[in-house]
Amino acid sequence: MLDLGCGPGSLAVRVLDRILAATVVAVDADPLLLGLARAAHRDRAGLRLVEADLGRPGWGADLALRETVGAAVSTTALHWLPEPQLRVAYGELAGLLRPGGILLNGDDLSVADFAPGLAELERHLQHWAAGPRGESLDDWRAWWDGVTEDPALAELVARCGDGPAAAHRDAESAQLSAHERALRAAGFAEVGTLWQHGGNRLVCAITGARVV
Ligand SMILES: C[S@@+](CC[C@H](N)C(=O)[O-])C[C@H]1O[C@@H](n2cnc3c(N)ncnc32)[C@H](O)[C@@H]1O
Repeated sequence: MLDLGCGPGSLAVRVLDRILAATVVAVDADPLLLGLARAAHRDRAGLRLVEADLGRPGWGADLALRETVGAAVSTTALHWLPEPQLRVAYGELAGLLRPGGILLNGDDLSVADFAPGLAELERHLQHWAAGPRGESLDDWRAWWDGVTEDPALAELVARCGDGPAAAHRDAESAQLSAHERALRAAGFAEVGTLWQHGGNRLVCAITGARVV
């Protein structure tokens, strides 16, 4: 399996916990977040961490895969890529998946560009569901500020430079339609939402042959 934009590896290790036979190649462009993943999961059997930019043509070769893979997962990462890079990412991915292989992308994606009323209702639902618990969590800015102030992480922070995490300000491909277009253009045969809560959704895309 692939974990695209794996960050500190939280999803990759959950996959390994649940699917004992799996091997996960976890990919991220950010040295700091990969450093956290290495620190936390260095000796984790079945996990391989790779530094690569998903928006750069040819990133698939950096993974040095010996065979095509059955599935790719991702959480809250692919909306970071502007649409042209998203197309590159999905195009490369299509070449790495075997026929009938799937992408499961859990992300906060809006439908405001074609269904503003629905998008508004989704926002309300998410806000209402977050409640006091949601308010107590660090947002991205607060998390990043905490990381940059920690002396133990100073070397990794310095390596980051203008890496994607440091540069991230807003969602670049925050519309569901951008993902659907890019996935279709990459040749995925089926694209749809498998699960949804407000704007939080699990987008699934299946390559060529149908899964039975
Ligand atoms: C919000 S974090 C999510 C991390 C992880 N998936 C999780 O759920 O904990 C988004 C991740 O996407 C990565 N990312 C953003 N743009 C990327 C790119 N072009 N190539 C590779 N990784 C990228 C960031 O470095 C960051 O680790």
